[in-house]
Amino acid sequence: MSEDKKPKEDAGANEESEAPPSPKPARRRRKPVRRENTGDAPAEATGGTRPGKSPSAKPAARDRVTDRHEVKPTVRYLAELKGKRPIVGLTAYDAIMGKLISDAGVDFILVGDSVGTTLLGYDTTIPVTIEDMVRHTSAVRRSNPACLLVADLPFGEASLSFDRLLESCRRLMQEGGADAVKVEGGRDLADDIEKLVATGIPVLGHIGLLPQTVKAIGGYRKFGTERKEAESLYTDAISLEEAGCFAVIAEMIESKVAAVLASQITPPLIGIGSGPNCDGQILVTQDLLGLTAKGVPSFVSPYANLAKDASVALSRYVGDIRNKRK
Ligand code: KIV
Repeated sequence: MSEDKKPKEDAGANEESEAPPSPKPARRRRKPVRRENTGDAPAEATGGTRPGKSPSAKPAARDRVTDRHEVKPTVRYLAELKGKRPIVGLTAYDAIMGKLISDAGVDFILVGDSVGTTLLGYDTTIPVTIEDMVRHTSAVRRSNPACLLVADLPFGEASLSFDRLLESCRRLMQEGGADAVKVEGGRDLADDIEKLVATGIPVLGHIGLLPQTVKAIGGYRKFGTERKEAESLYTDAISLEEAGCFAVIAEMIESKVAAVLASQITPPLIGIGSGPNCDGQILVTQDLLGLTAKGVPSFVSPYANLAKDASVALSRYVGDIRNKRK
């Protein structure tokens, strides 16, 4: 991710900007449909790099032993964690990372379309295809993660027709082995999401910064810093709750606005660059591990610097062979 795509402000998982607008509870999109909002399917249908600074290891955290919590690979379990303990999600795109992350005890793995910017060398997530997502999802599934496995619906798949959307979700679940799908978008997609949930497809919502719209919005930025936008985010969050999303990702939303949204909806609000008061957090694993070529977003404090470690090891190997030390 190039420097010019840096957000104007730090999303500050640990920072709170002053006097943000409160998303004043507005009119609901429609009458709430009283149903389980976990999105559990019948018979349990089963579960970029963004802008930023250079990765540097966080020594204090490096040797900390992970607190173990029970993890169950169901959307109902994840949804019911709200109010009990923070939810942790991380991205994975291959079998080895899937295993490492599952073994670390996360609640869910997201096979994000961030695979485009983290692994595939694209500048945005837009070129990522459904074939890419099926392939990477099935790779993570083969690592037998103990947690919920969610696959991202890539650019365009939700826009052509409901049949196309349904078919893409079917592929992610049947061919990729996903337990659930993530769909970027708010109220405009709520009717389609409701139909997916009714079909037995658990849906993870995604509001705030929608990386698939980056060309339209002109770059990555914080959302909800103005009242009108904060209210619009509220309407989106409520619409996704009513549509039956089992949880909602909140990306780059002003910290205090995200806190209000989390308190107003029943499904967990899982933040990324949206401050500490969400019901959980998700990060792109490559950012967390410092395994990026172009730095990490300003809201990430990397726990390792794997890019540097790999570079040192590779140079040592090349030197050893050249100098016949091996
Ligand atoms: O694609 C992705 O990795 C995501 C997360 C950043 C939420 O959408």
